[in-house]
Amino acid sequence: MSVFQSLSDEHRLIWGLIGRLEACLQEPDGRVARRDARAVLLVLLRALQGHGELENMIFERAEGAASSEAARALAEVERQHEALEALRLEAVDLLEKAADLDLARLRPLARRLAGALRAHFSDEERELWPLWKNVESRSMRRGLDRRAAERVKDLKAEVRGWWTAVDEYLPGR
Ligand SMILES: [Fe+2]
Ligand SMILES: [Fe+2]
Repeated sequence: MSVFQSLSDEHRLIWGLIGRLEACLQEPDGRVARRDARAVLLVLLRALQGHGELENMIFERAEGAASSEAARALAEVERQHEALEALRLEAVDLLEKAADLDLARLRPLARRLAGALRAHFSDEERELWPLWKNVESRSMRRGLDRRAAERVKDLKAEVRGWWTAVDEYLPGR
């Protein structure tokens, strides 16, 4: 599997979690919304942790061979990773601050996170990746392809495990 296929699988997985969080936040019963959103957030925030690490590793390794356009696209994506990490930490803070999630704060935060991720995934898929696809040598790519596939396989297994825990935590869903 190519490194870009793995990265786009990761995007789909994270985007699916955003969809589940948004669905929880539309639940009219505040008690149910708080309970379910907390469970989904725990999974989402773990999945987001380390999202940029693999990408930075992949693109930094080929940096010397990149065009100035590709280097600019990478700098923008790295800036977005920092902004996403700040949003992730805000959500971690919200989770840790109170046993009962503050929905009035979580709803706008979830909207900002969804908007930032949508723009970020789109920038990566449409601008960064096409610029980098021809940069690396085939042997370098083979190693990266394997590492990216492993990372996404591990992430999928972890997410499956977390869902099992969430389903046990939320009986009747
Ligand atoms: Fe990214
Ligand atoms: Fe990405």
